Amino acid sequence: MLNQFLHFQEALEKRKEHGTLRVLKPQQKGTDFYSNDYLGLARNTDFQNILLKNVLENPNLLKGSTGSRLISGNSTIIHETEEYIAKEQGYESALLFPSGYNANLALFSTLPTRHDTIIVDEMIHRSVHDACKISNAKKLKFKHNNIEDLEQVLRKQTGLCYVAIESLYSMDGDIAPINEIVEITEKYNAHLIVDEAHAFGVFGYGLVSEFQLQNKVLATVTTYGKALGSHGAAVLANDMIKSYLINFSSPFIYTTSAHDFLWNSIREGYQFLNENNGLPNKLQENIKTFRDQNLSSPSSEKSPIQAIIIPDNHQLRSLKETLSENKFLTYAVFSPTVKEGTERLRICLHSFNTEQEIIGLTKIIKDFI
Ligand SMILES: Cc1ncc(COP(=O)(O)O)c(C=O)c1O
Repeated sequence: MLNQFLHFQEALEKRKEHGTLRVLKPQQKGTDFYSNDYLGLARNTDFQNILLKNVLENPNLLKGSTGSRLISGNSTIIHETEEYIAKEQGYESALLFPSGYNANLALFSTLPTRHDTIIVDEMIHRSVHDACKISNAKKLKFKHNNIEDLEQVLRKQTGLCYVAIESLYSMDGDIAPINEIVEITEKYNAHLIVDEAHAFGVFGYGLVSEFQLQNKVLATVTTYGKALGSHGAAVLANDMIKSYLINFSSPFIYTTSAHDFLWNSIREGYQFLNENNGLPNKLQENIKTFRDQNLSSPSSEKSPIQAIIIPDNHQLRSLKETLSENKFLTYAVFSPTVKEGTERLRICLHSFNTEQEIIGLTKIIKDFI
């Protein structure tokens, strides 16, 4: 029996040898430069008090949903939240999911058939790759944010063609040339889907909304586990796409809905964002303070994700440890997760970081490199 799983053991040992074994560690105490809580909503006591008040007034928010949305789990709150989100973001429809991973899995595994083509930016999130496997469509990659390469790849499409991009990428912290991508996908009659996981809340409701491109994309995915400090995601599209997902998407159909507390938190999150528009401004101030320290980075000057390339796993580990000793929590991305030579320290900035913290962090990095 054990021998049959020898390859599992070997794969784990190999990771251990390379220092890349993933283990679950308790949350650390220190200055947060690694979470996706860009606007601090996950820790905002005013926001928590709003949710608490809602629960006290309506304890049914904590009730289990009792089933799939197609059977017993389709509450009034989830329905109203979807209507609200669609209207706020300027789409015909919204379909809620318990996570962004599920939303991408549903979209990309359901819409493309085996006769179709999915073209993905080479840096697209894993959830899209996993969905492509289920769809059996032909998957092609284009070079990251490279319009010329995208055009070459678009010429190879067969069947219906879907193009998947993120608006703000989580590894390099750079922004997609979304207007150019819209133009080129229109030229080749391909259908653009934009994942706004990291842009939502940081740049309004995301770049599709900011540039008013709702009618130029087939769908947008917004997630609520990052700047909104909660959990869950929405696919924003037209009524037909929503209905098609409800009818044919396994990740939507065959799962129990979350309880209403989640959907209520999302709706309250939108309202909280609208009433606290100083938070994204404060975030941008902090990003500027970081950028003013002149560390070399491939990231956008407006991005809350700032990557510092330390092209050596050992060096990177040593820097990460020095930062941890000083109670700065950062995330190191080693090869092979990223290409050799592009290993990086990934720093997430937040509206709640102080100038002193940012300068303290950058000083240690500067002294190190
Ligand atoms: C670009 C992108 N899309 C989708 C997801 C998945 O979202 P969630 O964490 O809500 O499952 C993530 C989160 O890591 C992400 O970075």
